[in-house]
Amino acid sequence: MSFCCAAESQFGPKVAERDLRRYRRRGADTVTKLILAQLRHWPLRDKRLLNIGGGIGVISAELAADGIASATLVEASPAYLEVARHELQNRYGSRSTQFLLGDFARIADTLPDADVITLDRVVCCYPDAEGLLRGAATRTLQLLAFSYPRDRWYMRTATAVQNFLRWMKGKAFRTFVHSPQQMSGVLERAGLVRAATQGTLAWMVDLYCRVGDIPDALDAREGQYIRKLSAGSI
Ligand SMILES: C[S@@+](CC[C@H](N)C(=O)[O-])C[C@H]1O[C@@H](n2cnc3c(N)ncnc32)[C@H](O)[C@@H]1O
Repeated sequence: MSFCCAAESQFGPKVAERDLRRYRRRGADTVTKLILAQLRHWPLRDKRLLNIGGGIGVISAELAADGIASATLVEASPAYLEVARHELQNRYGSRSTQFLLGDFARIADTLPDADVITLDRVVCCYPDAEGLLRGAATRTLQLLAFSYPRDRWYMRTATAVQNFLRWMKGKAFRTFVHSPQQMSGVLERAGLVRAATQGTLAWMVDLYCRVGDIPDALDAREGQYIRKLSAGSI
């Protein structure tokens, strides 16, 4: 079974409607808020956003008010993509929005570059996290933010139990706890440097920026830190 079919069966219309109701009631959840907070340290006005595995489009929806110039959402689940299309229409008005159905790792080469790329709880749904991140890093002009499950025994155990239950029910969809070292290695080899990292008990959120692309408008202290990082002096 292809990844898209597995995603379609896991994230169908009922799940998409449930996620939308939850978002309308409570807003973005904790991990998504961490990504948004990290991104908002940087100037976002007039940037092009690529939201990979964007679900119902929460990150794109939230950043619409920050002056993002255009938003592209790539999703493997048609149900999520449909809800996102509906949700984002009003928020973006005449600004460009694009909704692409497919496996990002397979179509990355066909997409235009973006200033800001996000993958919120996406690598954990995909077997080849390195391939996915490599594709995302290739398209990133400035920032890449992503969240992933902590590589701890309790997360590995919970994931194994969930996958066992899926197997018992005959479902093809699986989740993964990937190696943080291997994921950061892919991004660093692609010329990105980690600018921030934060976490909860279960999740980590990392923000990477492209070496040499540190805007003057960035908060002075943080900008100085990242410039030192890029120069290898930290
Ligand atoms: C757990 S959901 C998270 C959705 C959303 N980012 C959020 O945090 O609410 C993971 C999403 O990533 C999508 N996804 C995972 N790998 C993908 C890939 N290679 N290409 C496109 N979508 C992908 C899945 O279809 C699913 O909708």
